[in-house]
Amino acid sequence: MLDLLLTGARLPRASDLCDLGVREGRLVAPEPDARQVIHLEGALVTPPLVEPHVHLDAALTVGDPRPNRSGSLFEGIAIWSERVQGLTVEDVKRRAGRVLRWQLAHGVQHVRSHVDVCDPELRALRALIELREEIGDRMELQLVAFPQQGIFSFDGGQDLMRRAVELGVDVVGGIPHYELTRELGVRSVEFAFALAVEHGLRVDIHCDETDDDHSRFVEVMAAETIRLGMAGRVTASHTTAMHSYNNAYADRLIRNLARAGMHVVTNPLDNAVLQGRFDAYPVRRGHTRVRELMSAGVNVCIGHDSVMDPWYPFGCGDPLQAAFVLAHHGHLSGAEDPARLFDMITVNAARALGLEGYGLREGGPASLVVFDAPTEAEALRLLARRRLVLRRGEVVARTEPARTLVAWDGGEEPVDFLP
Ligand code: FE2
Repeated sequence: MLDLLLTGARLPRASDLCDLGVREGRLVAPEPDARQVIHLEGALVTPPLVEPHVHLDAALTVGDPRPNRSGSLFEGIAIWSERVQGLTVEDVKRRAGRVLRWQLAHGVQHVRSHVDVCDPELRALRALIELREEIGDRMELQLVAFPQQGIFSFDGGQDLMRRAVELGVDVVGGIPHYELTRELGVRSVEFAFALAVEHGLRVDIHCDETDDDHSRFVEVMAAETIRLGMAGRVTASHTTAMHSYNNAYADRLIRNLARAGMHVVTNPLDNAVLQGRFDAYPVRRGHTRVRELMSAGVNVCIGHDSVMDPWYPFGCGDPLQAAFVLAHHGHLSGAEDPARLFDMITVNAARALGLEGYGLREGGPASLVVFDAPTEAEALRLLARRRLVLRRGEVVARTEPARTLVAWDGGEEPVDFLP
């Protein structure tokens, strides 16, 4: 007997519906005998959503200690450097824990969070390491040592990176475009790779998050990835300067990223509002070259980045919102693009994080998300609620479907926004 039978599921890119059986936390072939049956009636079912890039330590601090009046990156960094002064382990755990719950409600079960380590006491990192322990098997949390103020341009930066690794991060980060000089930027990339190799860790660097077309540290990352044989273990995050490179340089760079086997995380929410701030009209949008990267075979995924912090006041931790914005800014409105955007918040992000055993298949974990929509395109268009989130066969989040009525012709009519 099955523990659970889900009938009428529509898997990504499938036109036919299927039934899914669950026994002892695993997906199995459907059988008629089941303790519980849920009729999905054609709802889209995907593997768990994967959040490859968020800053949980800064989340939910918007307006504290003061609002970002300009909305710019640099005012945001100045405000965050003030907010960091009053950081406590409990403060970080409370805010990060709240966002993790939001993410789980959206179907996210794997999260990679960058954590600012430019703090001699490493309070944010200590907090998130504690939280990683406390959430146990509920979700998977990867932590990146992220030197917000630079590795060579912040007093004690190298030592703090080493201490962060010793405390127990999963990934080594960097921010080469923020270092004082081009040379220090290159050295910071080399430092991060060497540290990662020494400890058997992955690399995920905030790289070229600027509109400056002279910011060219992704090429250094590609060269280091090739030199050190780290294909599949390296992610370049943001890479917004790529938007502004000349086409000949961008073409060569993208081919080298594919050759290196690197992953790219684009963060359409933050970068939609942070880039192009120095432009007179026409104003650049400052997103990386998503379509060209994908065409070249580079694994591209979508990050949420900020959730209500000094850099980005919006968001609720839902990867679907980020995918929706990228559909617009990345010109991803073709017929095949909704499925591609879903790949970018599921399987592609899982590859970047190096998740093992991820995906919907018989014998695999019964971890999945049921959308209140029939297809990827409709889920994206409606930012559909997640009706049900299963983790290893257990319901870990559920949302009651909304019911909307309009007054019409003397009565009330239901509206479901479906054509
Ligand atoms: Fe970021």
